Formats: sequence, C-alpha cells, structure tokens
Amino acid sequence: MLKSSPATLHLARHNQVQQTLHWLTALVIFTVLPLAWVMVHMGKEAHGRDLYFTAHKSFGLVALALIVARLVWRAIHRPPPMPVWLEKWETGLAHATHFLLYTIFIIMPVSGFILSSAGGHPVSFFGLFDFPQLPKNKELSEIADRIHIFGQYAVYAFLAAHILGVVWHVAYRRDGVLDRMLPKQVNAE
Ligand code: HEM
Ligand code: HEM
Repeated sequence: MLKSSPATLHLARHNQVQQTLHWLTALVIFTVLPLAWVMVHMGKEAHGRDLYFTAHKSFGLVALALIVARLVWRAIHRPPPMPVWLEKWETGLAHATHFLLYTIFIIMPVSGFILSSAGGHPVSFFGLFDFPQLPKNKELSEIADRIHIFGQYAVYAFLAAHILGVVWHVAYRRDGVLDRMLPKQVNAE
C-alpha cells in the first residue's frame, strides 16, 4: 500500500540555475540523438554528412559541459529533499536513475571524443576551432567506439526510466514532483 500525498502540497523546488541547466541539457540531448541517428545512416559520400558529424560532436560536448556545470552547482547547492510521503523504493529508484543519467552523459561524450580524436579525426567545435587532438591510437579508438555504440542503449533505458518516473508522479501520484523542475507559477497558491 502506497503512502498517500497530502492534499495541499508545498514542495521545495530545484533552484533556477539547476532548472535552467536541466532543461538546456534535455534540449541538447534531444538534438544530439536525432543527429546521430541520421548521420550514421548517411552514405559516406552523402552531401552534408560532415556537417551532421560536426553538429553531433559539438552539441555532445556542450552536453558534457552542461552536465559538469550541473554537478558542480549541485555540489554547492544541495537539491531539495525528496517528498516525505514517497516509499523507500520510489526514492531509491529516483536517486539511482539520476546517478545513472549523470554517469552515462559523461561516458557518452568522453567516449565520443576519444573514438574520434584517437581515430585520427579532428574534433571541431561548430567549425569555429579544433580541440587539441589525441595521438592516433587505433585500439583505443575502437574500444571507445564500442563503448559509445553500446552506451546508447543505456542512454535510451535511463531516459525512458526517467520519463516514466515523471509520468508516474504526474499521472498516478499527482504529487507535484514535476513542478519541482518548473518555474513557480505567478498566480499559484
Ligand atoms: C551526450 C553525448 C552523446 C550522445 C548521447 C551520443 C550518441 C550517439 C549515438 C546514439 C550514436 C549512433 C551510434 C550507432 O548507432 O552507430 C553516436 C555515434 C557517434 N558519435 Fe556520439 N554521442 C554523444 C557525444 C559525442 C561526442 C562528444 C562525439 C565526438 C566528439 C561523438 C562522436 C560520435 C561518432 C564519431 C559517432 C559515429 C560512430 C560510428 O559510427 O562508429 N559523440 N553517438
Ligand atoms: C522530457 C524530458 C524530461 C522531463 C519531463 C524531466 C523531468 C524531470 C523532473 C521533474 C525532475 C525533478 C525530479 C525531482 O525533483 O526529484 C528531473 C530531475 C533530473 N533530470 Fe530530468 N527530465 C527530462 C529530461 C532529462 C534529460 C534528457 C536528462 C539528461 C541528463 C535529465 C536528467 C535529470 C537529472 C540528472 C535529474 C536529477 C536532478 C538532481 O537532483 O540533481 N532529465 N527531471
């Protein structure tokens, strides 16, 4: 039997910086993934293929910067505690999913950078400048490539778990957890 949530809810929100960084990360991740799906299915000689790769890599590195910024911000400004009416398993699952999301979104851009750079492909930031290149190392590049390609399934699984968790709170729990990540409504009680 689930503990029920109180009728009037006054949940502490994530602060505005964490909220902004969260939604920017979501936007960037939902840009990086479709770019990847399209680019890996383009013919080697296809027009604009390089642009897709550059955009995927650049947005992927922006995602890494955002995740690192979030972790630093989070270390200084602790997130609000989980609502008290949640069962232990709900809190545990939420913490585990958040931890796995942070972890996979560090592994993906780092493995992407290594697979490209050690594979002999310079990594450009939106065509503005190139990042320092790693020495060519075919073996290392292949290991990173495997991590990157299999890592995508962890990305899908953790994102699905995260979004299902939000649906659980919105549709079943109806406890305002989504509001924790949204700006305060002006005319809200
Ligand atoms: C949030 C970060 C990232 C995510 C979620 C991500 C995701 C993906 C996905 C889903 C694929 C398609 C894999 C396949 O089915 O073959 C892919 C391919 C690729 N990604 Fe990323 N990526 C990220 C960051 C990066 C970065 C930062 C770089 C390089 C600097 C990069 C370089 C590549 C390359 C070169 C491929 C093609 C690999 C191949 O075909 O063997 N990625 N990425
Ligand atoms: C439609 C997409 C998304 C929705 C609706 C959503 C919603 C939420 C909500 C409501 C929270 C707050 C949970 C709480 O207060 O306990 C949250 C936290 C979080 N979200 Fe998302 N999210 C989405 C996409 C993403 C993406 C793409 C990432 C990728 C990194 C992500 C990573 C996280 C993390 C790591 C936290 C925990 C924040 C912390 O306490 O440090 N979310 N999300």
